[in-house]
Amino acid sequence: MTNYSTTKDTTVLGHFIPKDTRVIVNTYALHSDPKVWDTPKEFIPNRFLSSDGKKVLKYETFIPFLIGKRSCIGETLARVEVFLYFVSLLQRYRVSAKNVDIMSAIAKRLTMNAKPKDDLILEFHKRL
Ligand code: HEM
Repeated sequence: MTNYSTTKDTTVLGHFIPKDTRVIVNTYALHSDPKVWDTPKEFIPNRFLSSDGKKVLKYETFIPFLIGKRSCIGETLARVEVFLYFVSLLQRYRVSAKNVDIMSAIAKRLTMNAKPKDDLILEFHKRL
């Protein structure tokens, strides 16, 4: 038995799950559900921005840190880290993608996060 296991026999949506079964959330399915996302198989980071590019859009169904009792305890720290990392990079460099067309192809692999199919070639131009 692990921390992620059921503590007793139970039934979810008609499926019987015995005691001590390891249960994990299938975020891959959730984050590529065509009922929720337009073109879920395409890698389009801009989908998280408003059309004028000024606001970050929030989606209830986007839960990279999961939710509930076992959600990521480091979420706040991770968000601050990612913000500081990118802001300090962008303050020093102008960044452009050389092979921007590959952004539309998403890697076919079953993991928790989406990644472009091919390596993204970035150019960093030092800001003066
Ligand atoms: C982008 C960065 C991160 C992502 C996407 C992420 C995502 C996740 C996910 C999906 C879980 C599993 C939740 C579950 O099973 O219900 C988790 C658990 C956890 N994360 Fe993170 N995490 C990140 C960064 C961090 C950082 C920076 C820390 C600590 C400094 C951290 C500490 C933990 C811990 C301790 C758990 C286990 C919580 C528990 O089982 O009660 N994570 N994280």
